[in-house]
Amino acid sequence: MIVNSKEMLEKARDKKYAVAHFNINNLEWTRFILEECNKNQSPVILGVSEGACKYMGGYKVVADMVIDLHKSLNIDIPVVLHLDHGSSFEACKEAIDNGFSSVMIDASRYPLEENIEITKKVVDYAKKFNVTVEAEIGCIGGSEDEVTSELKTTSVEDALALVQGAQIDSLAPALGSVHGIYKGEPKLDFEKMKQIREKTNMPLVLHGGSGIDDEKIKTAIQCGICKLNINTDLQIVWSKAVRSYLEENKEVYDPRKIIKSGEEAMKKLIQEKLILLGSINQK
Ligand code: 13P
Repeated sequence: MIVNSKEMLEKARDKKYAVAHFNINNLEWTRFILEECNKNQSPVILGVSEGACKYMGGYKVVADMVIDLHKSLNIDIPVVLHLDHGSSFEACKEAIDNGFSSVMIDASRYPLEENIEITKKVVDYAKKFNVTVEAEIGCIGGSEDEVTSELKTTSVEDALALVQGAQIDSLAPALGSVHGIYKGEPKLDFEKMKQIREKTNMPLVLHGGSGIDDEKIKTAIQCGICKLNINTDLQIVWSKAVRSYLEENKEVYDPRKIIKSGEEAMKKLIQEKLILLGSINQK
């Protein structure tokens, strides 16, 4: 089923595991992820950024593709189709209107009051369609951030204000992680994670889930992380496999063979992540 993330993340929160959010870029990636998660009977969240939506032809194309693949491949795990980092009410509305079951509104660049106001507007709209909403607060870094330890983490008060003010379903606070490749050692603020989890009782989302060592991920789950966003790790493993296939098979020009040459490596990593997060057989 294509479902919203409410039950999936609350179950993960209560049973102390995390659901993987894997970003999709095309039909093949979507199929690889769905097949591997289904094989492991793990729930999964397919994250699609606005850029990836545009690349694939728009929100409707993405929603139709995911719904059709889900059906044609006989997938029997719960799957969430989620807009990743929706930048405005309009972007979230477009995703909802076209069949996404979950959206993230990222109004974290605005002052707190404005973040709450924009997020609440998305929540009010999403509720009418049974769509869940993730919101961000604080500054989750990009790969340009040299020193991760100096990133300012979200305060417990601000996190609580957003949760209470906007009635969201899950929260992505800034806790020291960054998107993309880490330039230094990732330094996660576990104490803050625990405090935010205790005060808000929200399923917490950790963005920038690539490149963090396994022990830190396990600690983060114990501290309240229920959803781990992974994009770069899959991109690296897929492109490495494709590059080496092309080097060894210089005469190949069939795009199906080229894209597929990254399938095995990607599926192997997906399974490793599901084992790490503890979501296998939790469908
Ligand atoms: P990474 O690319 O660092 O895995 O981050 C993914 C992410 O947080 C998507 O929202």
